[in-house]
Amino acid sequence: MNRRRHATPTPFAVSTRPCWATWAETGSFGSGSLPERCYAARQDGEVVGFAVMDQSFFRQSFVELIVVHPRHQRKGIGEALLLHLEAVCPTEKLFVSTNLSNKQMQRLCRRLGYMPSGMIDNLDPGDPEVIYCKKPQRS
Ligand SMILES: CC(C)(COP(=O)(O)OP(=O)(O)OC[C@H]1O[C@@H](n2cnc3c(N)ncnc32)[C@H](O)[C@@H]1OP(=O)(O)O)[C@@H](O)C(=O)NCCC(=O)NCCS
Repeated sequence: MNRRRHATPTPFAVSTRPCWATWAETGSFGSGSLPERCYAARQDGEVVGFAVMDQSFFRQSFVELIVVHPRHQRKGIGEALLLHLEAVCPTEKLFVSTNLSNKQMQRLCRRLGYMPSGMIDNLDPGDPEVIYCKKPQRS
């Protein structure tokens, strides 16, 4: 696995407990996340990203959504959110999916050691959903 180190640590914190993440700023990925499933990354009190996980995928955990505000991308927040979901994942496997066209998300999955686990057609036209899976390490 290719783990790059970035010189400057980023000043943000991922919530250790599920919470509401309302994000009126972008308008695109709104607030509807259920509080018991949503983990927010905050910087100076402001939500800069959030991730939602549930156990709806064949009784395994699934990342329903992971979003980092465009202004705060490429600072390690997506990685931190995913690592946090792994740490609190209550099932043996954690699945995540993204469109085949979403190269950024796929790089993140591969960097963190997720295994490609097939594709689903007929969701978004002409852009299959790629499934990734990881067995989080238990400490
Ligand atoms: C996919 C997504 C969640 C990634 O979040 P992110 O916070 O940008 O992810 P990271 O910062 O951890 O990693 C992104 C890149 O920044 C780099 N990076 C991380 N910290 C860095 C730093 N301090 N300095 C420079 N680069 C850095 C990473 O190495 C990575 O590079 P690569 O893409 O060339 O491999 C984000 O792009 C996003 O919200 N996209 C829109 C929603 C979406 O598509 N969600 C996924 C499907 S649900």
